[in-house]
Amino acid sequence: MKFLSVISLCFLLCLCVHSVLSQNANTPPRGWNSYDSFSWIITEEQYLQNAQIISDQLLSQYGYEYAVVDYLWYRSLSGGSNSRGNDCIDEWGRMHPDAKRWPSSVGWNGFKNVADKVHGMGLKFGIHLMAGISTQAYDANTPILDTTTGKAYEESGKVWHAKDIGIPERACKWMDKGFMALNVTSGAGKAFLKSLYQLYTSWGLDFVKLDCVFGEDLDFDEITYVSQILKDNKSPIVFSLSPGVGATPDMAKKINGVVNTYRVTGDDWDQWSQVVSHFDVARDFAAANLIGAQGLNGKSWPDLDMLPFGWLTDPADNEGPHRLTNLNLVEQQTQMTLWCMAKSPIIYGGDLRNLDSWTKDGVIINPTLLFINSNSSNNTEACESFLLLLGRIFFSSIVAEGSSNGIRAWIATGNNGGQTPQGRISTLLFSI
Ligand SMILES: *[C@@H]1O[C@H](CO)[C@@H](O)[C@H](O)[C@H]1NC(C)=O
Ligand SMILES: *[C@@H]1O[C@H](CO)[C@@H](O)[C@H](O)[C@H]1NC(C)=O
Ligand SMILES: *[C@@H]1O[C@H](CO)[C@@H](O)[C@H](O)[C@H]1NC(C)=O
Repeated sequence: MKFLSVISLCFLLCLCVHSVLSQNANTPPRGWNSYDSFSWIITEEQYLQNAQIISDQLLSQYGYEYAVVDYLWYRSLSGGSNSRGNDCIDEWGRMHPDAKRWPSSVGWNGFKNVADKVHGMGLKFGIHLMAGISTQAYDANTPILDTTTGKAYEESGKVWHAKDIGIPERACKWMDKGFMALNVTSGAGKAFLKSLYQLYTSWGLDFVKLDCVFGEDLDFDEITYVSQILKDNKSPIVFSLSPGVGATPDMAKKINGVVNTYRVTGDDWDQWSQVVSHFDVARDFAAANLIGAQGLNGKSWPDLDMLPFGWLTDPADNEGPHRLTNLNLVEQQTQMTLWCMAKSPIIYGGDLRNLDSWTKDGVIINPTLLFINSNSSNNTEACESFLLLLGRIFFSSIVAEGSSNGIRAWIATGNNGGQTPQGRISTLLFSI
């Protein structure tokens, strides 16, 4: 089998001076996330080393600006990725970084020092959170902090605890020992969420990836309430939902206005079949006009997931990173082309300390693709027979005889950073 991606473009650039509205996630967020290379076991040192490389090599010219710590930063390495009772929680049932892995958090400092360092590098700081309440807080039946009084939350003459708001029958399906949904319609449930986000935003967050809350795990109440809390934060916070197993455009239309990105597939790993499966999904969300639709304090973007290139680990692995991506260069270029053309967030997943030049120069800093990712509109899969025919003529030697879905074409308009459209970009994505 062989795979190709071919791009053809023609556009004129308007050189007039303009001011871009300052909005949250005005273009698809771009950065790095620790999951594909470290699963959950990353340490402060490894994280800061990666952040420094983003800052040195990918920030100013290429716009990679978010450095996101993925899940279980609060779990001791003696626990597993779905274990009970191995987390660091405070007296109010809130997660704090595991101090063995995150030494600067000692003394309940949280991620404050790490966020300060990341901001000092010119980057934006992000963390992953699980929806609901932790099983450990539920088991310990911790009281709930009332942020308006600084004391335990009281209502109807009683002090409320974790067991009054946790819903054990709704454990997170893929981490049933770790988290369960909470009752967001109760005053105590709302108070708990406020107490969580008051703590986390005090660390200096710019990006929150909230997990076990979208697709099959949809919790509309929690998404809406968290969004309301984040909306009023003094600096903008990008609000990202995941995962997207079973997500549909209709579901997305109910929440896109209160978030900035939402995953539209399950986890994407480095298998060609998984890349291929994103073509139809990307087409459907584009056709529903969801790319760049209204979002929280700005815009929203269907998220095709991180890019599993370079030096990686495996899902839920307690070791790593320890292997190279399974995708060859052309497969990676095809994936990057679709992600950019569909205006997905561009979040690199490989360990940057082992970033090789063909991944960097050949894929993730391609200026044309990055331009399209930021500066195009009306992005859509094209079924114009003319484009497909053109593809067949150009690539007749490699298109399999009689192959019906060997060629996928996408088109978009170049918009030069939001100004009057100045031309047309067309991309042919090509897979056989
Ligand atoms: C959630 O809280 C509301 C208000 O206190 C209550 O009426 C409802 O029964 C609770 N739901 C669950 C599932 O506990
Ligand atoms: C998008 O367009 C603006 C305005 O021309 C430009 O400054 C910016 O570099 C472009 N973005 C990318 C990623 O090329
Ligand atoms: C998008 O396409 C529509 C219909 O072809 C066109 O009217 C509109 O101007 C385009 N918008 C942009 C921003 O390119």
